[in-house]
Amino acid sequence: MDTPRRIYFDYAATTPVDKRVMDAMMPYFMEEYGNANSLYALGRDAYRALEDARERFAKGIGATHPNEITFTGCGTESDNAALLGITARKSPKGGHVIVSKFEHHAILEPAHLLEKRGYEVTYLGPREDGIIHVEDLVAALRDDTVLVSIMHGNNEIGTIQPIKELAAAAHQRGALFHTDGAQTLGKIPFDVAELGVDAASFSGHKIYGPKGVGALYLKRGTPFEPQILGGGQESKKRSGTQNVPGVVGFTKALELMLEDQAEESPRLAALREKLTSGVIERLENTEQSTDVDPAHRMPNIASLLIKGVEGEAMLLQLDNLGIAVSTGSACSSGSLEPSHVLLSIGCPPEIAHGSLRVSMGRFTTETDVDYFLEVLPPIVERLRSMSPVYDRMFGSSAR
Ligand SMILES: Cc1ncc(COP(=O)(O)O)c(C=O)c1O
Repeated sequence: MDTPRRIYFDYAATTPVDKRVMDAMMPYFMEEYGNANSLYALGRDAYRALEDARERFAKGIGATHPNEITFTGCGTESDNAALLGITARKSPKGGHVIVSKFEHHAILEPAHLLEKRGYEVTYLGPREDGIIHVEDLVAALRDDTVLVSIMHGNNEIGTIQPIKELAAAAHQRGALFHTDGAQTLGKIPFDVAELGVDAASFSGHKIYGPKGVGALYLKRGTPFEPQILGGGQESKKRSGTQNVPGVVGFTKALELMLEDQAEESPRLAALREKLTSGVIERLENTEQSTDVDPAHRMPNIASLLIKGVEGEAMLLQLDNLGIAVSTGSACSSGSLEPSHVLLSIGCPPEIAHGSLRVSMGRFTTETDVDYFLEVLPPIVERLRSMSPVYDRMFGSSAR
C-alpha cells in the first residue's frame, strides 16, 4: 500500500525546525549547558554564545545596538511585554492606546487589560482591502496617545501594513510605535531602522527555529517597565535563566531566512498565485479574502473564502487526505466564532465561516499545490451538494 501523502500547508501556524538550526543548537543542550550568568568557564561560554547571538540577531533586523534585543519565551510574551511594559513606564496613570482590530490575541488581550487598568483603547479597523490606512490612524491619534501597535503582516489574511508611514504618523503626535513582526520576520524585508519603529516582537517557531523562544526589540531609550521580575537577566528587562540553545537556534534560523529571502519570497509568491487562481478558476463562489494588490500580500499566505461551506468541514476532509490547512473561523482556541480578522474587514459572518488559510514555506513544492488543486474541488462540491442552505444562498445556477 502507498504511504499516505502528507502535505503541510500551515507554515503560518508553525514550522518544522530546520536541520541546520538543530545542529547549531545541539551543543548547548548537553555539552555547553552552563547558565549564562555563572562566572566559571562553562557559564562564560554560554554567555558568549548568548551575546554573540544577540549581536547577530540585532544585525539581522537592522538594530543599532545588541542590547536593543531582549530574548523572551515566545512571540506572545514579546507582544504582552511591549504593550504593558511601554505604557506602564511612559504613562503609568493611564492614557490613550491604539491597536488595530485585527491584531493577534497576544496584543488584543493585553489591550483589554489596559482598559481594565484605566487606559482608553481605540481598536482601529482596517479597510476592506485588509490595510490600516494612514489617514485613519491620523484621525484616531490624540494628544494623549501613548502607544500605537499595528502588526506588520496579518497572520490570517496575509496583508502587509504600511508600517513606515504608520510609525511616522504616530511619532508626529508624540506616540510610540510597536509592530508585531512574528509573521513577516525573515519572509519579507524587516529593518527596524527603515521602518522607524520603537518596538517590535518576533517568534522563533515561525521561521524554522524552535518553539519557546521569542525576541522583543526595544529601540534605545524606549520607556519600558519589565513584566517578568526576578534575577534581572536580559539587562533587567526580562528575568529568567536564558534559553541559550533556543536563542542560538532562533538566530541561526533568522540568518538562514535572510540568506534565502531574495529567492524564496518570489518562489512562494508564485505558488500562492498559482494556488489562489487555481482554486478560483475551479470553484464558483470562491474569492480571495481581500483584493489588495500582490505587493501588499505576504508571499506565503493564501486566504480564500469558499462560500457555502464550513471551513472546518473542508479542513477535516483535507486532513483525511494528509493535507494540513487552517481556517480563519476556528482561531487559536478552537472556538467556532467567526474570525475577528475577517469580521474586521467587513466579511459577513456566514461567509467568514467558509474561510481557508493555506500557508506555504521552505518545503512546499509545486507538486503539493497541484495535488491540492486536484483534491479540493471535489471536496467542496460534495459539501455544497449536502448543504441545506447552499442553493438558497447562491441559487441553483451557482453549482
Ligand atoms: C502575528 C502573531 N503574533 C504573535 C504570535 C504568537 O507567537 P508565539 O506562538 O511565539 O507565542 C503569532 C503566532 O501565532 C502570530 O501569528
